[in-house]
Amino acid sequence: MNLPSTSSPDAAHTPQLHSRLPHVGTTIFTVMSALAAETGAVNLGQGFPDFDCDPRLIDAVNDAMRAGLNQYPPMTGVPVLREAIARKVQTLYGHGYDAGSEITVTAGATQAILTAILAVVHPGDEVIVLEPCYDSYVPNIELAGGVVVRVPLTPGTFRPDFGKIAAAMTPRTRAIIVNSPHNPSGTVWKREDMLRLQELLAPTDVLLISDEVYEHMVYDGQPHESAARYPGLAARAFIVSSFGKTYHVTGWKVGYVAAPAPLMAEFRKVHQFNVFTVNTPMQHGLAAYMADPAPYLELPAFYAAKRDLFRQGLARTRFKLLPSEGTYFQCVDYSELAVPERSLGEADFCQWLTRAVGVAAIPLSAFYGNGFDQHVVRFCFAKKDDTLRHALERLARL
Ligand SMILES: Cc1ncc(COP(=O)(O)O)c(C=O)c1O
Repeated sequence: MNLPSTSSPDAAHTPQLHSRLPHVGTTIFTVMSALAAETGAVNLGQGFPDFDCDPRLIDAVNDAMRAGLNQYPPMTGVPVLREAIARKVQTLYGHGYDAGSEITVTAGATQAILTAILAVVHPGDEVIVLEPCYDSYVPNIELAGGVVVRVPLTPGTFRPDFGKIAAAMTPRTRAIIVNSPHNPSGTVWKREDMLRLQELLAPTDVLLISDEVYEHMVYDGQPHESAARYPGLAARAFIVSSFGKTYHVTGWKVGYVAAPAPLMAEFRKVHQFNVFTVNTPMQHGLAAYMADPAPYLELPAFYAAKRDLFRQGLARTRFKLLPSEGTYFQCVDYSELAVPERSLGEADFCQWLTRAVGVAAIPLSAFYGNGFDQHVVRFCFAKKDDTLRHALERLARL
């Protein structure tokens, strides 16, 4: 056998890869945040708060670290946190999950969703996503060897079209991913939507991955319709939530999944060889902090005030405001602005808005596989009031 000599150039060559995700590039969120930083624009693009979390939460994590809670926790998450999550879900949505066998703490919702998909999707299985959708779903399905089946939410209203969902279901359908409150549109599924979904899935073995990371951001007195409230859905659902969203700590990357024990058993097989577990002091800190429900119960009023401040300012422009029933996103249609750039496509419009007006936004087309362009962009209002006012001053000329 002719082995290459260690001094030959061949010895140092990096093998060429056949990409597992050939269509994936840098996400629009990274691109727009970088452009906002470069141009000094107010960054209302990427979805994260520019204010700090409650200092009591930091203290709770510090206390855990100082108490020596710094080694590996159990694979499924520390029991006190799983119990706190189970109590919260029971109180809010009336479904009892067993903290031992039905709740797992994850490294944010992103890892939870990937893990759920890897646990249940076999090569060739179909998974329905409702577009526009969060950008991790499609590559996650592709990594599992699944087939992505894209069903559009109704353009203009972003409400689910159950006729289209039913038409997309086949004997190969393994799961459907639902996200309410919905990123990017800010729509919230109603009781009748959940009942329709429950009815549609009842005669099938289709699983539900219910992305509920914005569960505590539902406004105007509406309830959050968790899949946990619907026995027929809860029995087939991985319900995913994120402490990052709820407690203004997106960088901590801690979330959780609740699912019936047989589903959770499969989830944990993947989880234990994926992240294995999630950092210990954060989990203890979150468990202690959750003893007081006020921070999440007060979240709708907190964010509704920001939404209203932002909407009142935008109402003085020619942007057409779409409803924002939940999440911390506000979508606007720019097709009636009095500037020539109103005819640009969404991605170019966002570039122009960032560079020329000084406010970064995200094009909705980034949430569609085919780049569907409806002249709508998304702003994030999880910002200090001063940041929002600053952005509004800049947007006022439009
Ligand atoms: C709909 C949706 N799902 C999941 C996530 C990810 O949450 P995490 O930061 O906990 O991974 C996000 C974050 O933006 C989101 O908007």
